[in-house]
Amino acid sequence: MNHYRALRRRLAARLKGQGLVHLQGGKPVPRNFDVEYAFRQNSDFLYVTGVEEPGCHLVLDGARETLLVPRVDAHHRVWEGHVPGPAEAKRLFGVDRVMYADELKKVLKGRRPVAPAKLRDALDELRAVKTEGELALMRRANDVSGKAHLAVMKATKPGLREYELQAVFDAACVKAGLKHLAYPSIVAAGVNSAVLHYRKNNAPLKSGDLLLIDAGAELSGYAADITRTYPINGKFTRRQRDVYSVVLETQKRCIEKAQPGINSAELHLFSMRVIAEGLKSLGLLRGETDGLVENGAVRLFYPHGLTHMLGLDVHDVTGGKKRVLPNPTKIPVRFVAKLEPGFVITMEPGVYFIDALLKDPALRRKHKDSVDFRLADSFLDFGGIRIEDDIVVRAGRAENLTRVPKEIEAVEAACEG
Ligand code: GLY
Ligand code: MN
Ligand code: MN
Repeated sequence: MNHYRALRRRLAARLKGQGLVHLQGGKPVPRNFDVEYAFRQNSDFLYVTGVEEPGCHLVLDGARETLLVPRVDAHHRVWEGHVPGPAEAKRLFGVDRVMYADELKKVLKGRRPVAPAKLRDALDELRAVKTEGELALMRRANDVSGKAHLAVMKATKPGLREYELQAVFDAACVKAGLKHLAYPSIVAAGVNSAVLHYRKNNAPLKSGDLLLIDAGAELSGYAADITRTYPINGKFTRRQRDVYSVVLETQKRCIEKAQPGINSAELHLFSMRVIAEGLKSLGLLRGETDGLVENGAVRLFYPHGLTHMLGLDVHDVTGGKKRVLPNPTKIPVRFVAKLEPGFVITMEPGVYFIDALLKDPALRRKHKDSVDFRLADSFLDFGGIRIEDDIVVRAGRAENLTRVPKEIEAVEAACEG
């Protein structure tokens, strides 16, 4: 309660004198007759209230806080059960005053609301830097998700289907009380692991192939976003070990460099250099490292960003207008900001062998001097490798929230169970 009250006070202080703050909570979304999609509260509303019930509003008028809850009738209670009324909600959520949602007009009457763009900016600014209370929730979301990843590692074996492992992950989270996943789990075996947003999760697992699982649960809305890649039969082949080592080394070096003050786009550029060096050592790329980064050859194998903010949304707010910087690199990245203590970000380099890129005639012509395409073609049955951890930026050393095995020996031991 104190946690949410403190965040409301911060928001009110940030917007002092600019008008009244009105936040509308989420409403149920119908799926078909009498069925709704699983309700997930609006992230801004959750941020300052912790209220997970639909149909609410929050009004901050200077220091005065009003939570408005739906007025439900006997019919609603027959089907949906108990819904807290004003007195109970006041106790539960620790706000000054609770009224019914149908009284909203009365609360807003004659008052000037903050301009929506200003409210958006204030929320983006505040949500970017996590408080200790938020970090405690994020640690727990990561712990539960990490244990679920470990359960999947132990369960993985040839002959299963991807969805059977999805079921292991999701069940472990739900059993721990985390009923919402932060995003649909990606469980990708073999060549599917090179599909960045793979969703089918229905292919069989074959011995000798890799499995990539990108999955995380959320707690009170706070997301975990974790990826591990490992051999389905529990033992890395030489080729898998070589590529894995490039990705792991890149990730560890990037975590070391994720210090306050560094620009996230520069960090991405650094990750591309380390991957370029690694792919050169494997004979897949040739030439000057900087040239391979600039001419886009590395992006044939590593076509996504290194990092994004994490919080109440898996791709979280990026910090508001005051933090927007011009991109100092030529690489298209969505998140360009100087890292600050209290940012929670992912670190997720990857190397993939993607048919749609490696077989593209124009790209093959463009990069014929930089890429050994004969060798690359021999990897088209390989899939891809991504390793993703969630870290808290701090002065000194980043705190890694993710404790799932990632060193080769530790991964093989975890797969053995
Ligand atoms: N799971 C989505 C992402 O890694 O960004
Ligand atoms: Mn991510
Ligand atoms: Mn992810």
